[in-house]
Amino acid sequence: MTKYQLVATAAMGLESIVADELKALGYHTRTDNGKVYFEGDERDIAKTNLWLRVADRVKIVAGSFPAKTFEQLFEGVKAIEWEKYLPVDAEFPVTGKSVKSKLFSVPDCQAITKKAIVERLKGHYMRLGFLEETGAKFKIEISILKDIATLTIDTSGAGLHKRGYRLDQGEAPLKETLAAALVYISKWNPNRPFADPFCGSGTIALEAAMIGQNMAPGYNRDFISEEWPWIKSSIWNDVRMEVEDVANYDQPLQIFGSDIDHRMVEIAQSNAREAGFADLVSFKQMQVTDFTTTLSDGVMIGNPPYGERIGEKETIEKMVQDMGKMMNKYPTWSVYMLSSMENFEELYGKRATKKRKLFNGFIKTDYYQFWGKKS
Ligand SMILES: C[S@@+](CC[C@H](N)C(=O)[O-])C[C@H]1O[C@@H](n2cnc3c(N)ncnc32)[C@H](O)[C@@H]1O
Repeated sequence: MTKYQLVATAAMGLESIVADELKALGYHTRTDNGKVYFEGDERDIAKTNLWLRVADRVKIVAGSFPAKTFEQLFEGVKAIEWEKYLPVDAEFPVTGKSVKSKLFSVPDCQAITKKAIVERLKGHYMRLGFLEETGAKFKIEISILKDIATLTIDTSGAGLHKRGYRLDQGEAPLKETLAAALVYISKWNPNRPFADPFCGSGTIALEAAMIGQNMAPGYNRDFISEEWPWIKSSIWNDVRMEVEDVANYDQPLQIFGSDIDHRMVEIAQSNAREAGFADLVSFKQMQVTDFTTTLSDGVMIGNPPYGERIGEKETIEKMVQDMGKMMNKYPTWSVYMLSSMENFEELYGKRATKKRKLFNGFIKTDYYQFWGKKS
């Protein structure tokens, strides 16, 4: 097995959680903006793709070098041992980005990168004509930041938020990676009850269920690097077997989701069926203020509507006020709400124990955390 420089990409603000996930899997990490670097072999590529809940993708860093001119870019790309990764028939689309750099024309950088890789491979495989690109796909990215070019190869394919259980979504579904991060931050464990009273398509509840039963988030999907000839299918099979071995399907769960909109409840139920949690996670149609429970030490997590549509604001503000009063009846429950409403605490009627700035897509939000009393 060969060691590779790998990077798990993450949404801004979630890097430290991805680093914790990697450390828990046994890796040493180094964190940069939106990136967590680690080293690993073929097996680690499979393992991290299957297990990382909060990362967007796992990529191989093929090389990095200063590039202020097209010539430096061409020579730098050509010097990378692409034949280590790309077989002669590899299909290799190149995408690019450039930030604060002299080489700012992304289409030109992509074209030069492609040309340099073609030259390298033709030299290595002793081909004179075109490379046919009829084989496995290797998605290459040239990213230039402050005149440093970095070449990566995506090992995930579809983003890791695509778990394979989402058949349908509501209007404003949370990304599964962010939903998993919300559960991790809450420190919920499967011995505590869990409720999402704004469940929408059920993302947070289903992510909690997978965490609760120690199920790998990628167990239900494929990855682009499964097609690569140098990662043997036996590696993927072994890692998938391990995933099965450590899943704790007997772990009881008390996970409830509800939403005012019955259509959302139906979507959440069908997603739960797809994820294999139809009997373990219950969803029902309910207004948040009708929430009642006889259980204690619970964790409530949700992302209520932010009231950005005209006419909605007052209704939602009143709802947050009522929710704050209602949750006073359950002092042992901890409440975690992701909201862009800056007056959320004022409306809820309590100061948050902690707040954490997070982006929900491009929306700036705070994760308001109201810790419950120990019972
Ligand atoms: C931002 S979405 C939540 C999305 C969800 N996290 C997901 O991943 O699909 C907010 C949800 O709150 C629900 N909602 C709005 N007002 C409500 C209320 N008063 N009680 C309960 N649910 C409500 C909406 O129907 C909507 O599905």
